[in-house]
Amino acid sequence: MKKAIILYDSVYGNTKKVAMSLSRGLEAGGLYVDSSSIQNFDIVKLENYDIIGIGGPTHFHGASKQMKLFLNRIRHVKIGNKYGFAFETKTDFRLAGSAAKRIMRYLKKMKLKIIHSIITGIVFDKEGPLQESTSDMMEQVGLNISDKINNSNTQKDINQKIKNLKNSNINLYLNRLKWVLLGGGPIFFFVRAFYLASTGGDCFGTINPIFSWFLLSSEISLSGMVGVAGISGLILWKRKANQMETLKKLNLRKIVLFGGSTTYMVHFIRVVIWIMLCVI
Ligand SMILES: Cc1cc2nc3c(=O)[nH]c(=O)nc-3n(C[C@H](O)[C@H](O)[C@H](O)COP(=O)(O)O)c2cc1C
Repeated sequence: MKKAIILYDSVYGNTKKVAMSLSRGLEAGGLYVDSSSIQNFDIVKLENYDIIGIGGPTHFHGASKQMKLFLNRIRHVKIGNKYGFAFETKTDFRLAGSAAKRIMRYLKKMKLKIIHSIITGIVFDKEGPLQESTSDMMEQVGLNISDKINNSNTQKDINQKIKNLKNSNINLYLNRLKWVLLGGGPIFFFVRAFYLASTGGDCFGTINPIFSWFLLSSEISLSGMVGVAGISGLILWKRKANQMETLKKLNLRKIVLFGGSTTYMVHFIRVVIWIMLCVI
């Protein structure tokens, strides 16, 4: 279960009421919620929570002095991958200012993922009371936040599953390609080397027949063996992907990998010699 902490500053109790309503909403949404005034909170405990909500009253257009001190203390705490949101209380004046703007700035500095825009409770006077229905409204906001968190997790899981599926599909194609290359390539060399041998070899044979025949026969025997092993590996694997275990037990993978690379190497040597002696 995800854990949330609601931290508040409150002189006359209005911001505390908002904090409590938000907590109830979050709890209703299935989160475990703690709440505390900033004065009584040990900032080391921030580590224990996944969601951090901080709120306070608006004083002189900004955050209260206590809140500013608190924000300065927590700004250096290593927070990690957590969600955050800011709330405030203030009057309904046009130039009332905002405590939550500063709180939000600090939440962003702490690299929290902001889960909700600024949440504001309006007071009629500096001592309150809060506007009617603020409590219900804040509970609903808490519920919305918890929904977002639950859905963002679900969405994250879905994205991860899609990514895994894509990766496993890519692995499947790469595996198939590997068998095709390791089986098909050598078979091609086998046919080519067989053709050369039956027609008396290429120009290299006239210069050094013994070495040429050695290369040709090693190409024929290696590529024939490896090609057949590679293609049968591909067929086995295609019929049942979990035959990989059987293939491993048969050491077929190792044989094909070793034989395939040797075939390519022998062919490479032959091509280099052919270019050097016959073309240049
Ligand atoms: C010293 C002081 C300065 C205030 N300055 C503002 C202000 O600039 N803008 C505003 O809207 N309210 C201002 N208020 C009213 C507070 O916003 C209000 O007291 C607060 O929201 C009540 O919350 P509380 O009960 O949690 O303390 C001020 C209040 C005090 C005591």
